[in-house]
Amino acid sequence: MSTFQSPKGTFDLLPPDSATFLAVREAMAAPLKRAGYGYVETPAFEDTALFKRGVGKSTDIVTKEMYSFTTQGGDEVTLRPEGTAPTLRAALQANLDRGGLPVKLWYSGSFYRYEKPQAGRYRHFSQVGAEALGAEDPALDAEIIILAADAYAELGLREYRILLNSLGDKECRPVYRATLQDFLRGLDLDEETRKRAEINPLRVLDDKRDSVQKQLAGVPLMADSLCGACKAYHEEVRTLLTAAGVAFADDPKLVRGLDYYTRTTFEFVHDGLGSQSAVGGGGRYDGLSEMIGGPALPSVGWALGVDRTILALRSEGVELPGADRVDVFAVPLGDEARRRLFETVTELRRLGVSADFAYGNKGLKGAMKSADRSGARFALILGERDIAEGVVQVKELASGEQETVPLSGIVTTLQGKLA
Ligand code: HAM
Repeated sequence: MSTFQSPKGTFDLLPPDSATFLAVREAMAAPLKRAGYGYVETPAFEDTALFKRGVGKSTDIVTKEMYSFTTQGGDEVTLRPEGTAPTLRAALQANLDRGGLPVKLWYSGSFYRYEKPQAGRYRHFSQVGAEALGAEDPALDAEIIILAADAYAELGLREYRILLNSLGDKECRPVYRATLQDFLRGLDLDEETRKRAEINPLRVLDDKRDSVQKQLAGVPLMADSLCGACKAYHEEVRTLLTAAGVAFADDPKLVRGLDYYTRTTFEFVHDGLGSQSAVGGGGRYDGLSEMIGGPALPSVGWALGVDRTILALRSEGVELPGADRVDVFAVPLGDEARRRLFETVTELRRLGVSADFAYGNKGLKGAMKSADRSGARFALILGERDIAEGVVQVKELASGEQETVPLSGIVTTLQGKLA
């Protein structure tokens, strides 16, 4: 142990669990790659103003959860709490919006929110995300939701639900907002909630307290206030999802924690996770580009939480991919044997056979322990006498069976045994 521990709300990824994280990220990315999404990587920090303008000044993320600081040079920067505003910023900066649209991008990385840590909620967490920029087409909304469902199917996750809603557009949302505000003003709410109702009334719908939910029984819903265009758009998304065999539940009270959403919004929730039930979420953000100083660029995307998805898979008892084991573990006894076997290990690796070596002059007993721990199928044991006789011992670790094999053909022999 050292004096230091990982900071509160963070954890290290170490073998064997780290292999699961890699595999889950890959499984999430696979459907995106098949659908023409290109990989994007942006810095871990951005101008603070990008998130203030993009995510929204009154959101919990911006008011309470950002890791913001002033650099030595006086710049105001923030560790990215999410990936949508940075991805859009990068695409606009590179003028990708002037080429063929939509621009389809995916990312995988670390995000940072100063939240109260609990199971499934961390200060440093991992997302895989997808953003389709520059097209207003219900098929694109459907595509993005289908690709997430395909990723979960690939992982074997079953007990999750897709909640779907439409938040309207710049025509019908302001009208609904005013209607909702009128309704909320007539309720018996505490000071803080009253304030929230003035700044961001939709957030009140998401209040988890019974005392508030009870009063929301007859609340006007966005679904009843959608303009004709939004209603038709939403219907088309629903039709396409249904045709693709993707089940969803309409949730007219679904609101998201980021301010940029318009029209289609959705969340993937899992019931085996306790209060942090969202394994992923996203939606359309037709106004975000303009909010950060760009041209009109209607877009849609999602981010899936890698950490929570793994918790969900575990809660379902899904077998998770573990660490890759090596096939062969080499145990040399003596200096000449070390040289010979080291060469063999290098050759095996170059031929695509995974192999490891007993480093550190452990002696036979210690080296065999390392071989067992490595999970290798075969141990190669080479002593002085073996060298003199031109042979090597090949031990199958599971059965303990050992055979003597000519040293000169060992690589071919092993390739045959492993094929
Ligand atoms: P979000 O809903 O804030 O959306 O995050 C997406 C997912 O990231 C969540 O569903 C959850 O699984 C995971 N997540 C968020 N915060 C934490 C945390 N503190 N600890 C562990 N996991 C967490 C966004 O970030 C949007 N950028 C999604 C998007 C993309 N919308 C359009 N495009």
